[in-house]
Amino acid sequence: MDIAVLGVGNRARKYLSCLPENVRVSCLVEPEDIRLRQAAARHNVPPENCYSNPDDFFAQQHPGLEAVIIAAPDKLHVPLALSCVERGWHVLLEKPAATSEEQYLMLLNAADNAKVYVGVCLELRLHPFFRRIRELAAELGPISRIDHEEHIGPDRMAHTFVRGLWSQKAATGPIFLSKCCHDADFLLWLTGAKSAGEVHSRGAITRFRSSNAPEGAAGRCVDCPLERECPYSAVDLYSRRGAWTSGFDVPEGQTLADVIDEELRNGRYGRCVYHCDNDVFDTQTVTAVLDDGMRINMHLEGTSMQEGRVTQIIGERGMVLAEGGRVSLLLDGSVVASAEDDYSALNDAPLHAGADAALLRDFFESVACGREPVASLRSAYPGHQLCFLAGH
Ligand SMILES: NC(=O)c1ccc[n+]([C@@H]2O[C@H](COP(=O)([O-])OP(=O)(O)OC[C@H]3O[C@@H](n4cnc5c(N)ncnc54)[C@H](O)[C@@H]3O)[C@@H](O)[C@H]2O)c1
Repeated sequence: MDIAVLGVGNRARKYLSCLPENVRVSCLVEPEDIRLRQAAARHNVPPENCYSNPDDFFAQQHPGLEAVIIAAPDKLHVPLALSCVERGWHVLLEKPAATSEEQYLMLLNAADNAKVYVGVCLELRLHPFFRRIRELAAELGPISRIDHEEHIGPDRMAHTFVRGLWSQKAATGPIFLSKCCHDADFLLWLTGAKSAGEVHSRGAITRFRSSNAPEGAAGRCVDCPLERECPYSAVDLYSRRGAWTSGFDVPEGQTLADVIDEELRNGRYGRCVYHCDNDVFDTQTVTAVLDDGMRINMHLEGTSMQEGRVTQIIGERGMVLAEGGRVSLLLDGSVVASAEDDYSALNDAPLHAGADAALLRDFFESVACGREPVASLRSAYPGHQLCFLAGH
C-alpha cells in the first residue's frame, strides 16, 4: 500500500519506525528541510515526491496513493485531512483530530461522503494496560462513577506545555484537548457513551507564571544562580540528563551538544519556566455528567512531580483501581488480582509499549479489509466532544 506522510516531526518518525511491511512511503510533506531530507533518505523517497509545501503536494495527482498519515501541528489536522478525504484517500490523523467541534463534524461528514476511513491516533485503545482496565471494568456491571487524574510530570510539562509548542492556546488549542483527549477518549470508549453529556470545567495557571518566580531567578537557566536546585532546569533536562532531545534537529557538521547549547542560550527551550509566554492551564478539573447520570471526574495536574495516571472506576459490583501500571479489580469487597495485572514494566517501553505499531496495523488492516479502525473518527467523537465542552 502506498502512503504519504504529512508532517515528519517526532510522532511521524515514530510511526515510520514501525510501519507494517506491506506499507510503502511514496510521498513526504514537511516544511523543515532537514527533516524532509533525513526522512526521504531513510525511506527511499525520491526528491520529486518530497514536498515542503502541502499545496504543491495536493496540486499533483498521485495515482496509486491509498492512505495518508497526518502528523502535522494540531490546527492543520482538519484542513489537511479534508484535502485528503476529498481525493478519496484514507487518513490516519494525529490527535486531537480537530481543535473545534464544528471542524470535527465537518471532517466526519466529508469522510462519510467520500466513503473513506479516518483513524485517530488514540493509542491508549490499543495499549495492553488500558485494554486490561477496560476488560476488568466490564466485570463491574453498570458504572456509576469514574475518577481519573493525569499527572503530566515536570519534564513533559516544562518541555511541552510551558516552553514548547503546546504552550499557547491560539497556536494549538487548550491543554485539556491536547493532553487529555487520550484520557477522555479512553474513558468514554470504556463506558460506551455516545455523548459527553453535561460538562463542567475549571482551571488555572497556578505555578508557571512570573509572580511565582523564585527571587533572583534569571530569564534563562544558563544564567540562573538557582539552576542547580530548580526541578525545571533546562540545563539539567537537556544537557545533563539528555532527556527530551529527540525533537532537536542536528544540522550536518554540528553535534547534538552544539544544538542544545544554542537552544539553551537563545531558543525557546532555554527559558525559565516562570518567565515564558505560556497561557495554557497547568491544572484543570472537569466533570462530565453523562445522559444516564454516570459521572466522570477528570483532573489534569501539571504541577506535581509525579508522572502518570490514576483511575478509579466504580460499578454496581465493585471497583477497578489503576495506577502506575498496576490494575486491580475489587469485587464484593475482595481483591481479585493476579500477576498478570502488573503492567508496570511497560511504563517506559518505547513506542507506547507497542501500541503505536498496533495502531498502524489496525488502521492499514481496516483500509485493506473495508472496516472501521478501532480508533475511528466516528467512535472518537464523544471523547473529543468532552474536551471541546471543557474548553478554555
Ligand atoms: N498520539 C500521541 O501520543 C501524540 C504524542 C505527541 C504528539 N501528538 C500529536 O502529533 C502531532 C505532531 O506532533 P509532534 O510532536 O510530532 O510535533 P513536531 O513539531 O515534532 O512535528 C510536526 C511536524 O509538522 C511539520 N509541519 C508544519 N506545518 C506543516 C504543514 N503545513 N504541512 C506538513 N507538515 C507541517 C513541522 O515542521 C513538524 O516537523 C501533533 O498534532 C501532536 O498533538 C500525538
